Amino acid sequence: MKVGVFDSGIGGLTVVKSILEEKLFDEIIYYGDTARVPYGPKDKNTIISYSLEALEFFKNFDIDMLIVACNSVSAYAIEELQKNTTIPVVGVIDSGVMALKNTTEDKKSEILVIGTSATVNSNLYDHHLRELGYENITSIPTPLFVPIVEEGIFSGNLLEEAMKIYFKDVKKTDVVILGCTHFPLIENEISNFLNGVKTIHSGDAIVKVLKDTYHLTSTHETKISFFASSNPDNLKNVAKKWLNL
Ligand code: DGL
Repeated sequence: MKVGVFDSGIGGLTVVKSILEEKLFDEIIYYGDTARVPYGPKDKNTIISYSLEALEFFKNFDIDMLIVACNSVSAYAIEELQKNTTIPVVGVIDSGVMALKNTTEDKKSEILVIGTSATVNSNLYDHHLRELGYENITSIPTPLFVPIVEEGIFSGNLLEEAMKIYFKDVKKTDVVILGCTHFPLIENEISNFLNGVKTIHSGDAIVKVLKDTYHLTSTHETKISFFASSNPDNLKNVAKKWLNL
């Protein structure tokens, strides 16, 4: 089984990490649109048109499934992608919502959703969670975490300051949805800052969907290739570091 993994840039490697650990595919083709990252501040039409271009890119590889690792793309472009291909397109938002459901059945739980402006403004997590009966949802755009993580800063004063600003009005929280590819890399810091709150990680959430809904099981080895619309060597270097390749 050959899968394409699409992200706006390098962040989707956190999702690849979870998939690689489970060895769910024979082959992974990763494509990051590094020439046009970040998608988070862009509008819906722009994100849709970039995503459809990425779909064209993957047509060269005869993939069996497309995983959208990017929350911003999952927020705005999943339906368009699905309309334009016959292969399954699996996004991180539906998967994250399912993971939340498996984490707490208490509909009164205080849920915090953090992500880019696109993800938060789309209201998609909020909408799906309310459909399931959850009542207490707060969503906060935290886009500064993206460049902080890209600078390789996973702890320390700069991150603390950003968390102080973003979380200044957050009171009690039971679960935080890490609605952005980069946030798993600062998962512990976010959890500790919010008093040990449980976290939902897109990569782990998607693995569960791949196993439960698509009945994928472990294979032997996964071959992986990396492509980027700009500076592919940087993507490969970051992949080596983050994925221990
Ligand atoms: N990959 C994006 C996401 O998960 C974060 C980076 C960006 O803004 O493009 O939303």
